[in-house]
Amino acid sequence: MNFLESKILSDGVLKEGNILKVNGFLNHLIDVDIADQMAADFIRRFKGEHITKILTIEASGISIAMVTAFKLHVPMLFAKKTQSLNVDGEVYAADAYSFTHKTNNHIFVSSKYLSPDDKVLIIDDFLANGQALKALINIVEQAGAKVVGCGIAIEKGFQEGGALVRGLGYRVESIAIIDEMDYATQTIKFREQN
Ligand code: G4P
Repeated sequence: MNFLESKILSDGVLKEGNILKVNGFLNHLIDVDIADQMAADFIRRFKGEHITKILTIEASGISIAMVTAFKLHVPMLFAKKTQSLNVDGEVYAADAYSFTHKTNNHIFVSSKYLSPDDKVLIIDDFLANGQALKALINIVEQAGAKVVGCGIAIEKGFQEGGALVRGLGYRVESIAIIDEMDYATQTIKFREQN
């Protein structure tokens, strides 16, 4: 069992509707040592890829993306969900429907922060249905940049996102993959990984 799987078992809380709450270390209070270990794990997995930029989506992806970018000494860019007067000019935009929240997120980044020579590692906290990841990939490709891969903290392996994005030919590395979660018995089963 790896460090994140152990942390999920000790501090995660299962809610009805196949939701794992990780507010105590990832989605609200940030455990910086766990974030540091996740960043190191992403860097190990994508070693040799000459990453020039980390891309994530606000809000919860930012902490782990930031630590990873800091360790690699590359910029961290986060896609915004709400139009802001602070972002002017041209943008690359995509839509991500959230099945969890039943809302459509129109996400965007300023076009001046992505260029065709970028090699981008996309990082996010959860991979569930894959719509957020697909939208981020779309944005990178609008810029003519390369998607090196996707680093995910927690993949819900029983939902379709992982198969969807891997099926499109992208490399997805998830530190913890949950194959089964059961609210009634409060049990979680992780996928074996090397
Ligand atoms: P997707 O991100 O793979 O497309 O799946 P989905 O639309 O279902 O997920 C939408 C939001 O719900 C995402 O956060 C995602 O991180 C979160 N999410 C999905 N399943 C779980 C879960 O079991 N536990 C927790 N804690 N979050 C889950 P978001 O809308 O981008 O919000 P934010 O937290 O990043 O601000």
